[in-house]
Amino acid sequence: MAKEHVSVKGLAVEFNERVLEDVFLQMRKGEFVSIVGKSGSGKTTFLNALAGLVPVKGEIRRPKQLAMVFQNYSLFPWMNIKENIAFGLKENDEKKAQEIIEKIGLCGKEYFYPKQLSGGQQQRVAIGRAIAAKPELILLDEPFANLDSFSRMQMQDWLNGIANESKTTTILVTHDVDEAILLSDRVFVLKDKSLQQEFTIPFTKPRKNEIRYDQLFQELKKEIIKSI
Ligand SMILES: Nc1ncnc2c1ncn2[C@@H]1O[C@H](COP(=O)(O)OP(=O)(O)OP(=O)(O)O)[C@@H](O)[C@H]1O
Ligand SMILES: [Mg+2]
Repeated sequence: MAKEHVSVKGLAVEFNERVLEDVFLQMRKGEFVSIVGKSGSGKTTFLNALAGLVPVKGEIRRPKQLAMVFQNYSLFPWMNIKENIAFGLKENDEKKAQEIIEKIGLCGKEYFYPKQLSGGQQQRVAIGRAIAAKPELILLDEPFANLDSFSRMQMQDWLNGIANESKTTTILVTHDVDEAILLSDRVFVLKDKSLQQEFTIPFTKPRKNEIRYDQLFQELKKEIIKSI
């Protein structure tokens, strides 16, 4: 029961050729899992499969309420920030939208349009909109890929805080191994069409960004990179 909040058994996805095969994953409620792997290894396809966006073979069990943040910014350019956030809410709830805007640190920018925000701010809105609906499962596809390393670190700290507070079951796809270790309970390597290796991250949460300089962190990082 404990680990069955998300359950993937023998998942396969085929386009012109097999992209995923024999993929297994069990997650407990509130767990944070990252998936790393080479470009083209099937990470986005795996999230799409979970979200029901591509036809699959095998078994997927997951909570109905799910939100996804796509690899590229996924805001509506014709809506201002508040409208973008409110879109994620079940009813157009002014007060809740404002709460989320506070949480993502964008007070004062409610009536800006996405193109008037920085890349990191836009991604915060995208994640804010995803969590606004209080999903039971959130899928993040390289949400910080377009950011410089400093903004990225800030965003990682921010996501760390949000994830610990909301305790939403989360799957993060990233090619940044530091990010994966920093945020996750477990890290998987997607390679040769399946989730090959599993690394349990031993650090207690919430974590400080500085733990990346810890020797154990560095050793784990080396091991993960070796297996990608
Ligand atoms: N709709 C599609 N039709 C045909 N092939 C597809 C489709 N979507 C993905 N693929 C193929 O599946 C493989 C995996 O793609 P995917 O986007 O899942 O990789 P990825 O691991 O997310 O890569 P990246 O790190 O570059 O984002 C690629 O070879 C890609 O061409
Ligand atoms: Mg991808």
